[in-house]
Amino acid sequence: MYGNEGKVALSAHGLCKSFRLGDGYVEVIKDLSFELTDGAFEAVMGPSGSGKSTLLHLLAGLLTADRGEITIGGESVTAMNDRQLTLFRRRRIGLIFQDFNLIPTLTAEENVALPLLLDKSEREHRARVDELITALGLEKRRRHLPAKLSGGERQRVAIARALAGNPAVVLADEPTGNLDSPAAREFCDLLRQLNRDKGYTILMVSHDPVVAAAAQRVRLLRDGRFMDAFDTGNSAEQVAKHYLAAMGR
Ligand SMILES: Nc1ncnc2c1ncn2[C@@H]1O[C@H](COP(=O)(O)OP(=O)(O)OP(=O)(O)O)[C@@H](O)[C@H]1O
Ligand SMILES: [Mg+2]
Repeated sequence: MYGNEGKVALSAHGLCKSFRLGDGYVEVIKDLSFELTDGAFEAVMGPSGSGKSTLLHLLAGLLTADRGEITIGGESVTAMNDRQLTLFRRRRIGLIFQDFNLIPTLTAEENVALPLLLDKSEREHRARVDELITALGLEKRRRHLPAKLSGGERQRVAIARALAGNPAVVLADEPTGNLDSPAAREFCDLLRQLNRDKGYTILMVSHDPVVAAAAQRVRLLRDGRFMDAFDTGNSAEQVAKHYLAAMGR
């Protein structure tokens, strides 16, 4: 058993998403349903083009589903209008992308502060930024522009920014895709620590068994649905073995 007393942090029911392709449509997400328990750390694996990014974008409200319902932290994301969604995303969803998405003209600490500027008083947001900068070991880098940071440091700034509000869930799409192996390992350790010690709920897409092994569980996306799930035992070998076996079927 893992997670927090079975409380649900995120749920999706009957999710469908198609894209226009030529004269027709290609159905990428097909009636997908699942729940993520509060405090869980899960990874999504699947072949390239299986719809992992599409799913994450739907969950984050960056794409609109054709059908289905998504709730996050007890609130229905699919029922929100654009304005409500923008606010909700900033406050309740932590997003981490492969290419970091930092603003190049802002320093590390300004990037972290960005989601807070509109919601909190100056004093409150300063205290929160200090806390995050310290937690992620960025004290000596706080006044650097992203171009002056290493890949690993940039990704830590991106994590700090994702945690700045009060996220009910952290969604990460191939977060180590632009990192070398030592930085990727460090990133994974950091996510595990944030999940274990601070109780953040995390859903991370990765095709790398070493990275996915940081999660407690892996869900396999295939043909637009979750076909299989297994515990990682935090072992990359175990993840690779399960994944290859499932894909070979
Ligand atoms: N905006 C779009 N318009 C048309 N088709 C799209 C769009 N976005 C994604 N697709 C298609 O949907 C499918 C799933 O794409 P998606 O990016 O979700 O895959 P993925 O699992 O994240 O792949 P990868 O591992 O390569 O990142 C692909 O066939 C892709 O071409
Ligand atoms: Mg993708």
